[in-house]
Amino acid sequence: MSTSASTAQVSTNNLDAFWMPFTANRQFKQSPRMFVGAKDMHYTTSDGRQVLDGTAGLWCCNAGHCRPKIVEAVQAQVAEMDYAPAFQMGHPKAFELAARLSALMPSPLDHVFFTGSGSESVDTALKIALAYQRAIGQGTRTRLIGRERGYHGVGFGGISVGGIVNNRKTFGTMLTGVDHMRHTHDPARNAFSRGMPENGAEYAEDLIRIIQLHDPSTIAAVIVEPVAGSTGVLIPPKHYLERLREICDQHGILLIFDEVITGFGRLGTPFAVDYFGVTPDLVTTAKGLTSGVIPMGAVFCTKAIYDAFMHGPEHLIELFHGYTYSAHPIACAAALATLDTYEEEGLLTRAADIAQHWEDGLHSLKDCPNVIDIRNLGLIGAVELDPIAGEPTKRAFSAFLKAYDDGILIRTTGDIIALSPPLIISKDQIDELFGKLRTVLMTID
Ligand SMILES: Cc1ncc(COP(=O)(O)O)c(C=O)c1O
Repeated sequence: MSTSASTAQVSTNNLDAFWMPFTANRQFKQSPRMFVGAKDMHYTTSDGRQVLDGTAGLWCCNAGHCRPKIVEAVQAQVAEMDYAPAFQMGHPKAFELAARLSALMPSPLDHVFFTGSGSESVDTALKIALAYQRAIGQGTRTRLIGRERGYHGVGFGGISVGGIVNNRKTFGTMLTGVDHMRHTHDPARNAFSRGMPENGAEYAEDLIRIIQLHDPSTIAAVIVEPVAGSTGVLIPPKHYLERLREICDQHGILLIFDEVITGFGRLGTPFAVDYFGVTPDLVTTAKGLTSGVIPMGAVFCTKAIYDAFMHGPEHLIELFHGYTYSAHPIACAAALATLDTYEEEGLLTRAADIAQHWEDGLHSLKDCPNVIDIRNLGLIGAVELDPIAGEPTKRAFSAFLKAYDDGILIRTTGDIIALSPPLIISKDQIDELFGKLRTVLMTID
């Protein structure tokens, strides 16, 4: 579609019917921001401008946009077989993809359950954890533990273990039997840390407080994001995740890493599991699995968990769970081509090569007005702004609007600017991103 045609279409559209997700609908509809095309590191707007993608869409387009191999794979698959049920039936690409993913993930996380999104992956992992405890005779373990400021999508499971107040407060009592560890954010000691903060491993001990309150025999699993993203990028303190693992092991509690944003190269390793050298029992993924091209998620679990279900008469279903779109053929084709692209271009480790340049550029913004913290790891960055008194989120939102006008896509949560570009970003584009962000920060109130 030509840009002028898209512009015409946009201007004649009625914007009213679409209730936009996680959006200030009234503000948007007064002053719409429309993307009509994308290629590699850029979006094209409806008024024909190029916008540098500083967020990989929503942390998902890790290979960049409209990459040829993925486009071709999707086109070919939709013509060859559009859909096949995954209940009691299979198709070869689902098994091929699961095998390739399991080879990519450190052992013993070698079984894969497919879902349609990050939220579904989280629900799936929580359900597998509960069902596993029951399968091994630990049916009293029904509690799930999350963490303050955690984001695990928007299903009832995810918001229950999640810890972002606005995502929870209007939705009733959610799942019962859930508790939360404290978050790890400690700006008094860790502001402007480069990489993992030095202070805060002891926040893992908060899990012990919760275990003592409820008794370990009631707790099935703990879920955390290894790097918390949507809350505004909280990097785990050194030794924190190792300590969580130890405590879970001591008490028979499963550890779930939600790698929906850290999976597929974001930290310069295929998964955060590799980066931190901590192996959980279950890992949730989505987003980068297909580079955002087709919705898909995958939950990894250990052989021990899988095997615990493989009992009883062989004609019986072992786990009463799954989605119409689990292992959707087009998603599988997209994911296989995405893995090919990652491998051919070394993208799952590329962030490690440019992380220092990224870190230096990001931290060069320290002297800009209202900047109260800067955080980074791999190809993730955050700039936290001092909120305007009485008007929280407004300053960062102004930055977002100005950035869009100036040709860069950033993302904001509260008064925090979060950055997570496609893994193909060049050093020049990193410089452009931070150069323009500097101008934005110097301009807004
Ligand atoms: C850590 C984490 N978990 C789960 C999700 C939910 O993923 P989705 O929006 O695909 O349901 C997200 C989305 O940002 C996420 O960051």
